[in-house]
Amino acid sequence: MTQTSPQTDPVMTEAERQYPLAPSLLDAQAYRDPDRYRREIEDILLEAWYPVFPSADLPAARDYAVWEQLGQSVVITRLDDGSVAAFHNVCQHRGARLVDGAGSCPTGKFRCPWHGFVYDLQGVVRAVPLRGSFDDAELAGLRSPRCAWWSGAAGSG
Ligand code: FES
Repeated sequence: MTQTSPQTDPVMTEAERQYPLAPSLLDAQAYRDPDRYRREIEDILLEAWYPVFPSADLPAARDYAVWEQLGQSVVITRLDDGSVAAFHNVCQHRGARLVDGAGSCPTGKFRCPWHGFVYDLQGVVRAVPLRGSFDDAELAGLRSPRCAWWSGAAGSG
């Protein structure tokens, strides 16, 4: 029987063929470089799925919690059907922070503390004071990160 090497195995991807890597040293500057850190956040961490809260932190419909990591502030909510949603914690109007901490939102509405825009549990604008003075494009819902229940935790990516 003929054995295939990692370099010739047709099933392996190009990335897999580089393993095992030879031992090497990584310059300490790699851990201190702010540009490298920013690129890792933008190109790797913010592109990946990872758990943000255990489901026990959002036990009931309309519970919410704010996830703050990697320079992001995201509101995670449990919807009435038990599913989970997420939206960026920033008002569409002038960028005010919408929600702090964690708790229950019995009305299912978050009101911006500045000028009163109202958002639902999925970050969609539902009420706007002086609505006629805004273009519809300005009133589009907040951009939502992907979010789902995954093995007992809310995951976002
Ligand atoms: S900043 Fe939120 S309503 Fe104006």
